[in-house]
Amino acid sequence: MARIDYDRVAATYARGRGLTEDGLAAWRDAVRPYLDHLGLPVVDIGSGTGQFASLFPRWSDVQVIGVEPSEGMRHKAIAATSDQRVRYLPGDAEHLPLGDNSCGAAWISTVIHHVPNLEAAAREIRRVVGPGGPVLIRSAFPGRTTRITLFRFFPEAVAVVDSFPSIEQVDRAFRTAGFRLEKVESVPQVSVGSLAEFRERATLRADTTLLGIPDEAFEAGLARIDDAISGGQDSGPLVDYLDLLVLR
Ligand SMILES: C[S@@+](CC[C@H](N)C(=O)[O-])C[C@H]1O[C@@H](n2cnc3c(N)ncnc32)[C@H](O)[C@@H]1O
Repeated sequence: MARIDYDRVAATYARGRGLTEDGLAAWRDAVRPYLDHLGLPVVDIGSGTGQFASLFPRWSDVQVIGVEPSEGMRHKAIAATSDQRVRYLPGDAEHLPLGDNSCGAAWISTVIHHVPNLEAAAREIRRVVGPGGPVLIRSAFPGRTTRITLFRFFPEAVAVVDSFPSIEQVDRAFRTAGFRLEKVESVPQVSVGSLAEFRERATLRADTTLLGIPDEAFEAGLARIDDAISGGQDSGPLVDYLDLLVLR
């Protein structure tokens, strides 16, 4: 069970959470070395509206299987692609509708905090991803939020991230299935073009951390953004640092 109702968020997710082209390019550069020469599809676990699944075949010569539990998110993803190299299936991290050793890598972007049983998910991913295949986890992690704009304006949301699994917890859970944490990389992504655009997106509240704070804290955050804009602090694109964990 996800922390928020993604069937409801589906309508605004792309507008509220979609990355800029520059932001996506940063992730392309970070993940492409792991996608090249796989020979088997990538499973995108919690593929949402397909923001990454739809791009992987353009970044590298791979096929993608997006596994997504929310019908609303999955339908958005299916409607947005005509690429034969990408398909979407119902399922979740603990129940992947895929055969043993059928994938070359797994991609899990801003999903890990929704997974109820990390050890069960790690076992399932181990079953599906062939030996030596990388598991790439993109997320904000507890204690690593200082370089993410949202938490500057909505400090109460830090407590929400602090309730997410930490890097150490993810590492421990995946170790039980035989994985080892190979790398932690902080990836700078251009999230939005301006503070005004950031405000517009924040108002959609298409985010677990913004839905996890009281309404008053949310309103206070919007007022802080307004103050910053009227104080002349809107000086162009906003860069946020999210982490990429690589396990094998
Ligand atoms: C924040 S969205 C991320 C979507 C996409 N990965 C991206 O980066 O744009 C989180 C997604 O995880 C899905 N999800 C929730 N619980 C899940 C689970 N246990 N296993 C897999 N996906 C899950 C949600 O339905 C939602 O689409």
